[in-house]
Amino acid sequence: MDDVLKLGIAGLGTVGASTVRLLQTKADQMTVRCGRPVAVTAVTARDKTRDRGVDLSACTWFDDAIAMAASDDIDVFVELMGGSGDPALTAVQTALENGKHVITANKALLAAHGGELARLAEAKGVSLNYEAAAAGGIPIVKTMREAMVANDVQHIYGIMNGTCNYILTRMELEEMSFEDCLADAQRLGYAEADPTFDIEGFDTAHKLALLTSLAFGTEIAGDDIYVEGITKITLDDVRAADELGYRIKLLGVAQRTDTGIEQRVHPTMVPKTSAIAQIDGVTNAVAIDADAVGTLTLAGPGAGGDATASAVIGDVADIARGIMVPTCGQAVETLKPYTRARMRKHEGGYYIRLAVFDRTGAFAAIATRMAEADISLESIVQKQPDGDNQPSDQKVAVLITHDTTEQAVRDALAKIAEDGHIAGQAQMIRIEKL
Ligand code: HSE
Repeated sequence: MDDVLKLGIAGLGTVGASTVRLLQTKADQMTVRCGRPVAVTAVTARDKTRDRGVDLSACTWFDDAIAMAASDDIDVFVELMGGSGDPALTAVQTALENGKHVITANKALLAAHGGELARLAEAKGVSLNYEAAAAGGIPIVKTMREAMVANDVQHIYGIMNGTCNYILTRMELEEMSFEDCLADAQRLGYAEADPTFDIEGFDTAHKLALLTSLAFGTEIAGDDIYVEGITKITLDDVRAADELGYRIKLLGVAQRTDTGIEQRVHPTMVPKTSAIAQIDGVTNAVAIDADAVGTLTLAGPGAGGDATASAVIGDVADIARGIMVPTCGQAVETLKPYTRARMRKHEGGYYIRLAVFDRTGAFAAIATRMAEADISLESIVQKQPDGDNQPSDQKVAVLITHDTTEQAVRDALAKIAEDGHIAGQAQMIRIEKL
């Protein structure tokens, strides 16, 4: 059939193999729904001999992704290799330069090079689609680029990393260690090849950079994000949050402020009653506050082979149907420069946990330092010693502040550390009022 849309898939890991399998098992459905057949005609991956449980006999094998990207035998280059640099970058550039549409799940690549790649796609009159790059199976790009075109967004936030949410949920519900939870997430195929990207917050930051651009019509600013991961969150914090009426989630947040746009990724105390607090396990959720539609919350699987392949194939269908939408929701040249609001100006409540030396006046001195920094305390609670883990000369104090600034909290904690009343580093977790 002449009108077959021919796909070349680069990368046959969890998502790549699921994409091939789903396209094969749903071939008739795709033809009916897209009005033309769609077929995987070429593939490339690192290891030709590995059994991926999918039939590749009808596909031309390429050893080199860049050669496949330039091949006349494909219409669409589907990049599922990952990585912000080569070979993914050159392969995608080659495909676009050769007039191929590109579909990618590669948030690291787009966070670093999205603007230049979008410009190239526009120049060549082809699509650069990336639904699977942000929040896995959730159709957030389509929602923001198309369905919300009449809206001005004020605030977008969400749980955008399944691995982190899986770890935090199991730590809380099963009192399991961080390491055991991470090992399970890797075994289940949720984590990135290098899980540092997940647990240190970079994967969330890459996704947030893409959504911020769509939300505010600004250039993608993947390097201009405050990022803090979940590796320092302890079971003590998880338990304290529970007692205080919060749950801890790794949130990506972008919001307009008087001084610019805040882009931040950090563990966050969210009220147990909030919608986002109900999101457990590998599920992701993205909430958008916008002027016309109000608040929209989308929740669904943020990782996993079939769920992510579902998003990839949604992009395939748009191309098969001849639907083209600008990569960034508008022409690249119309995007505004991104102006970063400094993190030290961030305003909100804070949870602070301190190991305080058990001396007369220590708590009073801490409270004084907070007052000097103009921080009003909602509560200050001395916790029971944590079994054998708490040295006998220390007590644990948990402080909750009213709204204040990041600068004030950092200044106060520096003074408290200088005073010598605390052991080790203070733990500080931001509270988001949702
Ligand atoms: N490793 C990611 C996650 C999946 O855990 O959400 C794809 O981004």
